[in-house]
Amino acid sequence: MKVDGTHYRSIWLNDDGWSVGVIEQTKLPHTFETIRLASLEDAAHAIRAMLIRGAPLIGATAAYGMAMAMRADPSDVSLAAAYETLHRTRPTAINLRWALDGMRQALQPLAPAERAAAAYAKAAAICDEDVAINHAIGTHGLTLIRGIAQVKPTGPVNILTHCNAGWLATVDWGTALAPIYMAHDAGIPVHVWVDETRPRNQGAGLTAWELGRHGVPHTVIVDNAGGHLMQHGMVDMCIVGTDRTTADGDVCNKIGTYLKALAAHDNAVPFYVALPGPTIDWTISDGLTEIPIEERDPTEVTRIWGATDAGEVVPMRVTPAGSPAANYGFDVTPARLVTGLVTERGVCPASREGLVSLYPEMRRAAAE
Ligand code: MRU
Repeated sequence: MKVDGTHYRSIWLNDDGWSVGVIEQTKLPHTFETIRLASLEDAAHAIRAMLIRGAPLIGATAAYGMAMAMRADPSDVSLAAAYETLHRTRPTAINLRWALDGMRQALQPLAPAERAAAAYAKAAAICDEDVAINHAIGTHGLTLIRGIAQVKPTGPVNILTHCNAGWLATVDWGTALAPIYMAHDAGIPVHVWVDETRPRNQGAGLTAWELGRHGVPHTVIVDNAGGHLMQHGMVDMCIVGTDRTTADGDVCNKIGTYLKALAAHDNAVPFYVALPGPTIDWTISDGLTEIPIEERDPTEVTRIWGATDAGEVVPMRVTPAGSPAANYGFDVTPARLVTGLVTERGVCPASREGLVSLYPEMRRAAAE
C-alpha cells in the first residue's frame, strides 16, 4: 500500500542484501520512521517490544530473523537456538510457529554452508505468499461488502473493525482491511468505525493512520461505543482479524473483540473474521482452554502515550499511583458468534466442516 504516494510493504530486504527494513510502528501515527534489523536479536526485540506487530507480520519478521541467524552462524546449534529465541517472543499468534516451522523444515536437511541463502529465499517466499493470500482475502471480502451495498438504499456501508488488521499487520494489504481497501478502490462508498483498541491503541494509531493515508472515510470511536452504534442501526457489518483460529472455528483476537461479537449477535449485525490459512491452528479445537493468552506489562494500561500540541510524544498516567492493573492482550470469540470466516480460499461457516470444506487437505489433521 502507499504512504504519500510511495509504495511500501511493512517489511523488506535492504539493498545490502541481508539486513531487513521495517516500519517502526510504536512511532505511528505521530512519526513515520523505518528501522534496520541486522541480527536475530534485533528481530526478536522488534517482535517482543511490538516495534512490529500483527500475526502475519510477526511470522514474516521471525522468518527473516532466522535468516540473519543463519548468515551469522549456520550450525545446527544456532538453528535450534534461533527457533527458540524467536518462538518465545510472543505466545498467541500462531503464524509465528507456522513461519518458524516452515523455516526449520527447509533448513535442517541442508548442509550448513547452504543454509543462509536458502533461509533468505524462504523468508522472501513467506512474505510474497502473505501478500497473495491477503489479496485473495480482499477479493472474497469485497463480495460481502458489495452484497450489503446493493441492498442498502442510501449511505455508505458502515463497517466496524477492532485493533489493526491492515497492511501494517501483514506484509501488504492486511486481512480485515483488504476488502475495505478494495471496496473503496472499486467506488463502493464505505465508512469505517475504528475501535481505538486500548491499551496500545492499534486502532486509533495504526488503523486510522492507514485508512487516512489511503483516503478511506473513517471515524475513531472509544472501545465501548460499538454496542450503542449497533443498537441504532449504524453498523452494517463487523470485520476483524485473528491471531489464532481453532479447527472448530473459534477465533482469538485482540482483547475486546469478543464484546463486539456479542453486541453484533444481539443486534443481528454480521460479524466476519478475516484470516490467512497460516492463522489456523489445526492442532486445537477449543479456543477458550487451548490458546495461550498473552499478558503484557500493566504499565500499558496505567499509562497512555500521546503527542502534545508541540508534537512531543509523551506517556501520561491515567490511573491513581498504586492502583494495580491487569493487561490481557487477547480474547476468544466462540465460533457460534462468527457469521463467517473470510479466507484466501473463500468464505465459510466458522466450524470444522466449514474450514475443512476450504482446506480439504487438512481433513485428517482436523479430525484428531
Ligand atoms: O498485539 P497485536 O497488535 O500484534 O495484535 C494484532 C491483532 O490482534 C490483529 O487483529 C491480528 O494480529 C490479525 S492481523 C492481520
